[in-house]
Amino acid sequence: MPSNHGVVYLGPGKVEVQSIDYPKLANPKGKPIEHGVILKVVTTNICGSDQHMVRGRTTAPKGLVLGHEITGEIVEKGKDVEFLNVGDLVTVPFNVACGRCRTCREQQTGVCLNVNEGRAGGAYGYVDMGGWVGGQAEYVMVPYADFNLIRFPDKAQAMEKILDLTMLSDILPTGFHGAVSAGVGVGSTVYIAGAGPVGLAAAASAHILGAAVVMVGDMNKERLAHAKSVGFEPIDLTKSDKLEELIAAVVGVPEVDASVDAVGFEARGHGAQHSTEAPATVLNSLMAVTRAAGAIGIPGLYVTERQPAHALRSGLGQVAPLRHGADAGAALQPPADAGHPPWPPAHREGRQRHRHLARRRAARLSRVRHGRGAQVRHRSERDAEEGGLTRDVWRGASRRHRVGGRLPPA
Ligand SMILES: NC(=O)c1ccc[n+]([C@@H]2O[C@H](COP(=O)([O-])OP(=O)(O)OC[C@H]3O[C@@H](n4cnc5c(N)ncnc54)[C@H](O)[C@@H]3O)[C@@H](O)[C@H]2O)c1
Ligand SMILES: [Zn+2]
Ligand SMILES: [Zn+2]
Repeated sequence: MPSNHGVVYLGPGKVEVQSIDYPKLANPKGKPIEHGVILKVVTTNICGSDQHMVRGRTTAPKGLVLGHEITGEIVEKGKDVEFLNVGDLVTVPFNVACGRCRTCREQQTGVCLNVNEGRAGGAYGYVDMGGWVGGQAEYVMVPYADFNLIRFPDKAQAMEKILDLTMLSDILPTGFHGAVSAGVGVGSTVYIAGAGPVGLAAAASAHILGAAVVMVGDMNKERLAHAKSVGFEPIDLTKSDKLEELIAAVVGVPEVDASVDAVGFEARGHGAQHSTEAPATVLNSLMAVTRAAGAIGIPGLYVTERQPAHALRSGLGQVAPLRHGADAGAALQPPADAGHPPWPPAHREGRQRHRHLARRRAARLSRVRHGRGAQVRHRSERDAEEGGLTRDVWRGASRRHRVGGRLPPA
């Protein structure tokens, strides 16, 4: 059996490549499974979502093997794997999904009901996401392989472009999902908050979807220069705290058809506040600049309560806050609706129904039509607490499973 090494989280700001166990065909509880494969990792990426953990903004336990953006070659397969073979080169969607539960059948694979005992939705190498070992490693196990994996039909051709194709494991489809959720279409005017990898993938996707103008906002000058160099309109958020004026300077009106939050809860303020963390800045400003009946896509990762770990549930696919208690260790200011009664315990079907009702209510209240994957409560709630996280953000599947053809209409 080969040796294995992986990137291990050791505490805020500390990671190390360490010797780790060679993967077994077994689920996180140790039960043997035959629907999985073991991959020799060919490429693996560091995600903005990993950084929330590495910066110590979550309750990631020490010893967690990181990595959810994986491309690899199958070196071993369980006897129930029918459509893949040893030697196949495959891309791995970050979210672990069974392919057979209600939400998977509805293509909401980011909130699979069978891969995480704690809540809906699983991922590799992530706090609170089911305990699946991460793939910033030499070898990694992928369960439900026939469903989860996408095989590259021509291995040699794929290897020639592997540094581009590695982006299929998360960043590109995440950005694409953000643009589709925002309803971007032919002739749309689009504002994307964040010029990081997700923001640029959303911008590129908006372009593919036919947008007339794609503006990308950030306060990082190098990132803005790069966005400009690849054809997007940079919006320098250090210049003003009035996003609508910066947008009007480009398109002549202070609003856009579609907007995407590619920042999340570690957002900073605009203008003079650009060095200060202000978690609700992006959501509030997107609601202000998105036209009536426009839509907002939210791949950015958010918390729904003050325990940082729940941020990850939210950003990586969990859709409902369970409760708003008075937990210590707040990473964010308290939500405006801190008096919200506790959600019932995690009875899954019940929670599904609760979500549907809440979604309908949110849809009625909001002047902004949100993408199918995300809804934000009425903007009036934000007035209670400008600058803090003022509403719940419910994210559906944080991205679809395949890049082409399987996205539901926004
Ligand atoms: N849902 C998913 O599937 C998924 C997948 C990948 C990443 N994410 C999340 O998407 C977000 C972006 O990821 P990334 O890898 O591009 O992160 P990143 O940290 O590289 O980029 C974020 C950028 O936002 C900028 N920023 C900060 N405040 C801002 C503001 N108010 N307006 C505009 N820009 C602002 C920062 O300067 C930075 O350049 C993160 O929250 C990440 O966790 C979600
Ligand atoms: Zn990622
Ligand atoms: Zn499932």
